[in-house]
Amino acid sequence: MSRLEGRTALVTGGGQGMGVGIAEVLAEQGADVIVNDLFPERAAAVASEVGGRPLAFDVTDLAAVQKAFAEAGTVDILVNNAGIPANGFPQVDFKDSDPDLWSRFVDLNLYGVMNCTHTALQGMCERGWGRVITISSEAGRVGLPIRVSLYGAAKAGAIGLMKHVAHEVGKDGVTCNALALGSMDNNPARSTFPVPRQGRPRDVGEMCAFLASDGAEWVTGQVIGVNGGAVT
Ligand SMILES: NC(=O)c1ccc[n+]([C@@H]2O[C@H](COP(=O)([O-])OP(=O)(O)OC[C@H]3O[C@@H](n4cnc5c(N)ncnc54)[C@H](O)[C@@H]3O)[C@@H](O)[C@H]2O)c1
Repeated sequence: MSRLEGRTALVTGGGQGMGVGIAEVLAEQGADVIVNDLFPERAAAVASEVGGRPLAFDVTDLAAVQKAFAEAGTVDILVNNAGIPANGFPQVDFKDSDPDLWSRFVDLNLYGVMNCTHTALQGMCERGWGRVITISSEAGRVGLPIRVSLYGAAKAGAIGLMKHVAHEVGKDGVTCNALALGSMDNNPARSTFPVPRQGRPRDVGEMCAFLASDGAEWVTGQVIGVNGGAVT
């Protein structure tokens, strides 16, 4: 089945981890996939694996995002996946956190999503069709005792953005949704789920492929758990 034939999908942070599974499944479903990453070599390797195009840029840099989208041409499907700061993921109680650390999470997980979504929506709304899928986290919708307040705050912000923008662009044929991932198989922290394994990149890809399809036209403004059944 090629549900995404004729569509172009851009996956941010697609050079490793979840982004690889997303790029793979979207490509298998017929999309022309553009693989973004901060690191050009990662983007190139995954693009070559899935038969797509690499496009390295920093999602936190609005000017770079706008330039890259202009180079990319039409983008029908945007997957905002970049989210783990490349310069480290310190876990710290908010009370003890250095304010200099805050922007590391907010710039990537909220501004990165805003930069790419704002840029992608221009063409999507003009053409009357588009899909924006933001990879968030259970940490963005529930409080957890794992010292990730800064990350959770930024992930919650991105969920809020999707819910509100969905109202603004529904009339233009564009849907906006967020996925709340549970602990995935590249995360050393082990969790217990009703489905007794960690999540895999392709689990995320399969849900993205559905949300990106014509069949998901009536699903918008939602936060969908891709979490092995974790109770939230
Ligand atoms: N892994 C998990 O357990 C888990 C759980 C919940 C949510 N998530 C979310 O899933 C998404 C993917 O996570 P992952 O585990 O695959 O991360 P990862 O660190 O394995 O891969 C992320 C990729 O994004 C790239 N990247 C980082 N900053 C970038 C930037 N500024 N511009 C462009 N690319 C950038 C990195 O170079 C890297 O290749 C993230 O949004 C993350 O918050 C992951």
